[in-house]
Amino acid sequence: MKQDHLLVLASDEYLLPGFIDLHIHAPQWPQAGLALDRPLNEWLDQYTFPLEARYQDTEFAQQVYERLVPELLANGTTTALYFGTIHNTANLILAKAAIKFGQRALIGKVAMDNPNQTPEYYRDDSAKVALQQTEQFIQQVEALHVDIGGNVTPVITPRFIPSCTDETLLGLGQLAQRYDLPIQSHCSESNWEHQFVIDRFGLHDAQVLDKFGLLTNRSVMAHATQLDTQDAALFRSRGTAIAHCPISNAYFGNGVLPVNRLLNQHNKVGLGSDISGGYSPSLYENCRQAVQSARILEDGVDTKLSPEKRGVINSRISMKTAFYLATTGGADSLNIPAGKIEVGKMADLQIVQDQNNCFSVDPADVLERLMYQTNRNNIKKVFVGGQLVHQN
Ligand code: GUN
Ligand code: FE
Repeated sequence: MKQDHLLVLASDEYLLPGFIDLHIHAPQWPQAGLALDRPLNEWLDQYTFPLEARYQDTEFAQQVYERLVPELLANGTTTALYFGTIHNTANLILAKAAIKFGQRALIGKVAMDNPNQTPEYYRDDSAKVALQQTEQFIQQVEALHVDIGGNVTPVITPRFIPSCTDETLLGLGQLAQRYDLPIQSHCSESNWEHQFVIDRFGLHDAQVLDKFGLLTNRSVMAHATQLDTQDAALFRSRGTAIAHCPISNAYFGNGVLPVNRLLNQHNKVGLGSDISGGYSPSLYENCRQAVQSARILEDGVDTKLSPEKRGVINSRISMKTAFYLATTGGADSLNIPAGKIEVGKMADLQIVQDQNNCFSVDPADVLERLMYQTNRNNIKKVFVGGQLVHQN
């Protein structure tokens, strides 16, 4: 290595893999933290759809996306799997922002055309339009690579089953296969959403997604709090990953994802912020919530029940497991060589300062302290593919 490439860490600094946000809605950044006391469908109808509709305005899109990408990098997120909006011009602005600031990004044009479940001012006009626009975005991202390079992958993105017609779901499954692309959606997120799909199809989300060719080993499904044992087995057999979004789930999930059980059964699981169902752009904060929620699942919440009846045994996870979700779990879910500091992996890295370095602890405990105490200010340098993309 050339001398000027050698970076020497200070005694209170540590080198960690960059984090992988496996589920984030880029257009929702301006409303992070708003209306989280509302039920999911109300929050979508009254806050989220009106906000996303504003991305027809490309200046607004640029303003938001050029703030969000650096914010995520500053929080140590080197790769993000993004939902955009229905608007391809705005989606391309997000792609260009990721390239400009050096983030590894996977971006989906959101498909949503079901007139019963989407407002007239914010929907694809028909299944044909949803599919045409999705294909157009795939080609626009390819053209962008030829023009300016970068690390952006287009993603097939049915918003969730309620907002899509059968024709769109089927067509998107076919597009994913034809172009060999990753797929993302929401799956069995809440009681309302899970029941809506049962009423419409007599099936669970996982079965419906599978029927339309949307459960593959390149699929990442957000939330999955209402998945049953058979759904989880179907996910395993297809190699489909779950984006666990613990902060968002505390508001909208109507339950806690049994991460420990899913990992023990070898389901693929990573971590997502779900901005703005989750308010925080930091995967550190999401790791903390993952540990807290798993502990609450194990203990239970209703003290009228006896302790042995209250919770779900063997549900706790350690901070090391949460760290795994934010790194290797995410990389394996996306099938990318990242998430580990190891020969053969991409150099997606963060240098973090231990602000409590003056209090010595067992070296085996330092990671845990970093995961609980690190905030934006302690993240000193961030690299994507060996390139410095943030410095503080
Ligand atoms: N289900 C459909 N759309 C959304 C969304 O934007 N956020 C969340 N959390 N769930 C959804
Ligand atoms: Fe989401």
